[in-house]
Amino acid sequence: MAERTAAPEREQWTGQYGFILAAVGSAVGLGNIWRFPGVAYENGGGAFLVPYLVALLTAGVPILLLDYSLGHRFRGSAPAVFRRLGKGFEPLGWFQVAISFIIATYYTVIVVWAIRYIGFSVDMAWGEDPAAFFTGDFLRYSGAGLSTDYVGGIFWPMLVLWLVVLAVLALGVQRGLERANRIFIPLLAVLFLIMVVRALFLEGAADGLTAFFTPNWEALGDPNVWIAAYSQIFFSLSIAFGIMITYSSYLKRRSNVAPTGYVVAFANSSFELLAGIGVFATLGFMAAQQGVAVGELENLTGPMLSFATFPQIVSMMPGGPIFGILFFTSLALAGFTSLISILQVVSAAFQEKFGLSRVQVSLLIGGLAAVISLALYSSTSGLAVLDTVDKYTNEVGVVLSAIATCVIVTLGARRLPELRAHLNAVSTGHVGRWWSVLVGAIVPIALTVMLVTSLSTLLGERYEDYPLAFLNIAGWGTLALMAVAALVYTLIPWRRPVDDFTPEPLSASQEARR
Ligand code: ALA
Repeated sequence: MAERTAAPEREQWTGQYGFILAAVGSAVGLGNIWRFPGVAYENGGGAFLVPYLVALLTAGVPILLLDYSLGHRFRGSAPAVFRRLGKGFEPLGWFQVAISFIIATYYTVIVVWAIRYIGFSVDMAWGEDPAAFFTGDFLRYSGAGLSTDYVGGIFWPMLVLWLVVLAVLALGVQRGLERANRIFIPLLAVLFLIMVVRALFLEGAADGLTAFFTPNWEALGDPNVWIAAYSQIFFSLSIAFGIMITYSSYLKRRSNVAPTGYVVAFANSSFELLAGIGVFATLGFMAAQQGVAVGELENLTGPMLSFATFPQIVSMMPGGPIFGILFFTSLALAGFTSLISILQVVSAAFQEKFGLSRVQVSLLIGGLAAVISLALYSSTSGLAVLDTVDKYTNEVGVVLSAIATCVIVTLGARRLPELRAHLNAVSTGHVGRWWSVLVGAIVPIALTVMLVTSLSTLLGERYEDYPLAFLNIAGWGTLALMAVAALVYTLIPWRRPVDDFTPEPLSASQEARR
C-alpha cells in the first residue's frame, strides 16, 4: 500500500466575486471569439441562435449547476469527486482530466498564434495575402501527416507561454489563478467593447449583421446543427470536462452557488453574442470594400477566420493596426484565462492523487503537457492535428463525459435529489424539479441521440478528407488514449486520503447560508 500523506487545507477563492471572475475567465475563451462566430454562421446564421439557446437552457445551465453542486459538495478534483460518489466512478474523473490535458495542449497553440499576431498587426507583417502568410510563412503547413519538421516562430513563444502558465498554476488558487483573472478579465472586457463599438461604425457593418442574423430555418432540421450547438455550449461554458467541478471545489462553504451559475452563463453568452456581432460587423466592412455579399467571402470559419480573414480586414481598414492589436490582444487574454482553468483540472487531480505540491505538479505534469504540445502542434502538420483533435475531443469525448456524469449521478450513485437539496441549501432562490428532470432524463437522452449521430458521421465519412490513418491516430487514437489513461490512473493508489470524507449534512449547509 502506498504511503499516505495528510491533505493540506483546501485552497479557497477570496470570495464570491473572485470565483465569479475566475469562472467567467474560464468560460470566456477562444470558444467565444475564435469558435462561435464561425460555427454560428456555418450552422444556419440567425437560426443557429435557436439551437444555441435551447442548448444553453436545456443542457448548459443544468450541467453547469451539476458541476457546481458536485465540486462544492464533494470538495475535490474531478477524480476525487467521482470517487466520493462511488469507488467505481473514479475513471470518469480521470477521463475528464484527460480531456482537459488534451485540450490544454492545443489551446496553448492558438493563444501563441494570437500573441504573435499582436506583433504582426503593428506593421501588418502578413503582407498582401494573409491566408497564404498564415499557412505558408507562419505555419509552413504541410497538410495532414505526423510531421517532425518544426516551425521555429511558434516553438519559442510557446515555450515562454508554457512557463508563464505553469508559474500561475504554481502560485495557487488565490495568488495565481484569481489574481490573473482579476487583472485580465476587466482588461479584456474594456478592449473587446472598444473593438465591437468600432466595428459597428464601419461601412457595411449593417450588412454583416444582416448576414449573421438572417436565419436559414432549414438548418434546424439538420441534426449536425444541433450537435454543433450543444458542443459549442459545453466547450464555451467549460462544462463536463472537470473545470467547473474543480473551480467550485475552492468556493467557501458559505457561498451562494446557483445564482453564481446564472451570472456566469449569462456573462458568457452575452460575450459570445457580442463576439458574433463584432466579427460580422467587421466582415460586412470587408464585403463592402470588395463589392461582394458577405456570403461570398471565403475563410469564415475555424482558425482561418481569425488568422487569415481578420488580418486582411485590418489591412483594409483606416487605423487597422490598432484594430488588429485590440482583436488579437482580446483573443490572447480570453485564451489565457481559460487555459489556466483547463490546466488547473489536471493540476488539482495530480496534487490530490499523488500527494504532490503545486510546484511539483507544475514542473512534472505541466512540463509533460508542454513537451507534448510543442511536439505535436508546432510542427508543419500542427494545423491538421489541432483541427482533428479538437473535433473528436469535443464532439465525442466531452459529450460522452456529459452523458456519463448525468447517468452516474442519477442512476449509479442516485445522488441527484441530494445535489438539488445541496444547491437549495446553499443558494438563494430555488432550483426546482425542472433541473432534476433535465439532468436525470432529457439531457442524457438527447445527448445520446446526438452522440450516435456524430459517431456515425465520423465513421461514415473521412473528416475534412484527411487520410484515414491520420484520423485513426489523431482522432480515434486520442480518444482511446484518454480512455486508457482514465483506467490506468484509477488503478494507482491515492497518496492523500480521499475516502474518509463525509459531505456536510444538508442542515449545516443551510445553517451556513444564514
Ligand atoms: N470555455 C473555454 C472557451 O470557450 C474553454 O474557450
